[in-house]
Amino acid sequence: MAKILVTGGAGFIGSHIVDDLLAKKHRVVIIDNLSSGYARNVNSKAKLYRFSIDSNRINGIFRKEKFDYVFHLAGQIDIQKSIDNPVADATTNIVGSINIIQQSADNKVKKMVFASTGGAIYGETKGTPATELFPEVPVSPYGIGKLAVEKYLEYFKLQYGLDYTIMRYSNVYGPRQNAKGEAGVVAIFIDNAIKNLQSIIYGNGKQTRDFLYVGDAVRATVMAIKKNGKVMNVSTTKETSILQLYNKIMKIGNIQIKQKFGKSPDGDQRRSCLSNSLIRRKWNFSVSSSLDRGIKETIQWFKEESL
Ligand SMILES: NC(=O)c1ccc[n+]([C@@H]2O[C@H](COP(=O)([O-])OP(=O)(O)OC[C@H]3O[C@@H](n4cnc5c(N)ncnc54)[C@H](O)[C@@H]3O)[C@@H](O)[C@H]2O)c1
Repeated sequence: MAKILVTGGAGFIGSHIVDDLLAKKHRVVIIDNLSSGYARNVNSKAKLYRFSIDSNRINGIFRKEKFDYVFHLAGQIDIQKSIDNPVADATTNIVGSINIIQQSADNKVKKMVFASTGGAIYGETKGTPATELFPEVPVSPYGIGKLAVEKYLEYFKLQYGLDYTIMRYSNVYGPRQNAKGEAGVVAIFIDNAIKNLQSIIYGNGKQTRDFLYVGDAVRATVMAIKKNGKVMNVSTTKETSILQLYNKIMKIGNIQIKQKFGKSPDGDQRRSCLSNSLIRRKWNFSVSSSLDRGIKETIQWFKEESL
């Protein structure tokens, strides 16, 4: 049993990690300012500190709680917001992350696990799926920030010996995803359908993503406590276009999604698909939820929430 900090533990992926760690009998503390997360996501067995990760109060929490491990998921997740306001994005995603990394090093945390991104770091690749060895060419402040934090982790390991694993997720979806932002197309389509609102399909809808169910993302992330590896993609290695996704959700949920086509945002990637051969080989990890099953569970959750 370990004492574990989950930053962003009131958010979508973080709250599922908290539940999983508690089920494994760890003690869990959360730091989250509830900017895009919700108190209702927070497991009652976890302790929540409602602070921003860039606050100078963080060091007091580290000294008091004495964490064995840190899962760092708190952050600004909206690519468009990072383009509109790169200073705010960097303040949270870079400065806030350095604060968490520095406190982890100062307080002798055994390992830090960081929620990074595959799609926004590899960018538009020559060929898919992108392996961890593909060049890093982020094209948004969000992607640049994630890569910067990865480099800080390398530096803190070299300089202070802080162990770490970076999880480069593909597009994660599932219950509790916030449908308000621009980030989660699965959540947005389902939520709009339930509320009888219109969804926008950007461009011609043929752009592809690699949709990973949150349960699989969590299982891989929590494995990092026991496994070695600096950078690991977590993905399905299956490409699905936005139009295919749209049709699948309507078919599986027997629901109608009103849609219109809209202009693609600047820099919208045409294809995004990550190789998962490293994590399969090194960690013996395999994805267990098919997209059909994941969509079914997600629709079920959104329907229950709307009651
Ligand atoms: N969802 C995906 O597909 C995906 C893909 C790649 C990487 N990620 C990364 O995974 C992490 C979790 O993403 P998510 O999809 O669960 O998003 P989310 O918005 O649900 O979770 C982020 C959490 O961080 C909190 N937060 C934001 N700014 C904060 C701050 N300054 N101080 C403290 N807390 C703060 C929010 O309140 C929220 O609870 C993020 O770092 C994100 O960049 C997500």
